[in-house]
Amino acid sequence: AIDIEQLRAQTGAITLDPGYKNSGSCKSEITFLDGEEGILRYRGYSIEELADKADFLEVSYLLIFGELPTQKQLDQFENDIRKYTLVSEEMKNIIDGFPRTAHPMGVLSSLTSALTAFNPKAVNPHNEKDMYDAVCKTMAKFIVIATWTYRKTMGFPLNYYDNTKGYVENFMHLMFELPTGPYKTDKRVLDALDKLFILHADHEQNCSTSTVRIVGSSHAGLFASIAAGVSALWGPLHGGANQAVLEMLEEIHNNGGDVAKYVLKAKDKDDPFRLMGFGHRVYKNFDPRAKIIKKAADDVLSALGVQDPLLDIAKQLEQVALEDDYFKSRNLYPNVDFYSGIIYRALGIPTEMFTVLFAIGRLPGWIAQWKEMRINKEPIGRPRQVYTGSPLRPFVEKDKR
Ligand code: ACO
Repeated sequence: AIDIEQLRAQTGAITLDPGYKNSGSCKSEITFLDGEEGILRYRGYSIEELADKADFLEVSYLLIFGELPTQKQLDQFENDIRKYTLVSEEMKNIIDGFPRTAHPMGVLSSLTSALTAFNPKAVNPHNEKDMYDAVCKTMAKFIVIATWTYRKTMGFPLNYYDNTKGYVENFMHLMFELPTGPYKTDKRVLDALDKLFILHADHEQNCSTSTVRIVGSSHAGLFASIAAGVSALWGPLHGGANQAVLEMLEEIHNNGGDVAKYVLKAKDKDDPFRLMGFGHRVYKNFDPRAKIIKKAADDVLSALGVQDPLLDIAKQLEQVALEDDYFKSRNLYPNVDFYSGIIYRALGIPTEMFTVLFAIGRLPGWIAQWKEMRINKEPIGRPRQVYTGSPLRPFVEKDKR
């Protein structure tokens, strides 16, 4: 039993809020989210407008530096990123140590951590030039190593960033170009990818971002903090859901497409199965990103002439769930991950890379939040607990246990 008096004497009052459902950890000027109304804004700009009118590097700049860049600032930013796109050849030795079957997210977390060894100089967030260079370096190297995780699984030679191409176009080049010839990407594919990256770019104090902030609050470096964010993102309750959604849709399809059966299964409290891509900690109304992605999925598939039975299954699933009392009463709506996988699939991205794509999109958000946390001189993150273990007891010698 908890000795409340003893606890009070030791700790003072403690607010117990597992999962931090109602606890704010910081003040932030980066992202505004209203879960009741389904509103998302980066630095005051609506996600709908940004997804429609801006590109990913522009949005990255906005999140990290607080204002939309002028054309000159944007060109400079892109050029400065290009200065750092070479990744040390020795990093390849690390990749060689992984089995080809390794999940790309595990490899990405390790490689991001390894960047600390190749870039040991600590970033001073209070020095503008130092911070700006660190931003460019992180944006440059992360996209390269992210795609190397896929090349490794395929056993293909690793590609270098092509400084004559744009940032998002480089993703496709790094992933798919082979020594046998150049890889040309359809503009519609690039536009769709750009939009998806924007929609994933920040989402205030979610699990991976809180991780980045809390690791960074010990003054651990930027790469080390981001490596921790990658690991947090990997879980199927967070960014790993995009892979899990697609696997679920495939399973439903392969088992005859009986959507209602899976809705029933998700409601069964004795069954651990959940409808992946449904529900959100903060949105108790529709996830505004899901609305945009659903439309994008329709547009991309019809523009590319792709007919995917999984899109029909997803739509049926959404329909059945939205009319079901269990889902309605718990405010469970499709989230950002529900339709994104269908677009990635149409673009030719392998399923195991879906969460890596999420990480590339989320990177500017992680950097912006790390920077804000350090600039605001936030104290080290150190939650308290309510101890529920044994009271004091005498030590028992080994022969008496
Ligand atoms: N399928 C079936 N039931 C669900 C689902 C689901 N996808 N999500 C929540 N529920 C139920 C829970 O069982 C619980 O029911 P109860 O009140 O009868 O016990 C109730 O809804 C509330 O759910 P919690 O797990 O308490 O909500 P929480 O805010 O802790 O979790 C989460 C949110 C993790 C997103 C959850 O909805 C979930 O597991 N969804 C599926 C995974 C997913 O899609 N994750 C991606 C989230 S978006 C992102 O990270 C980018």
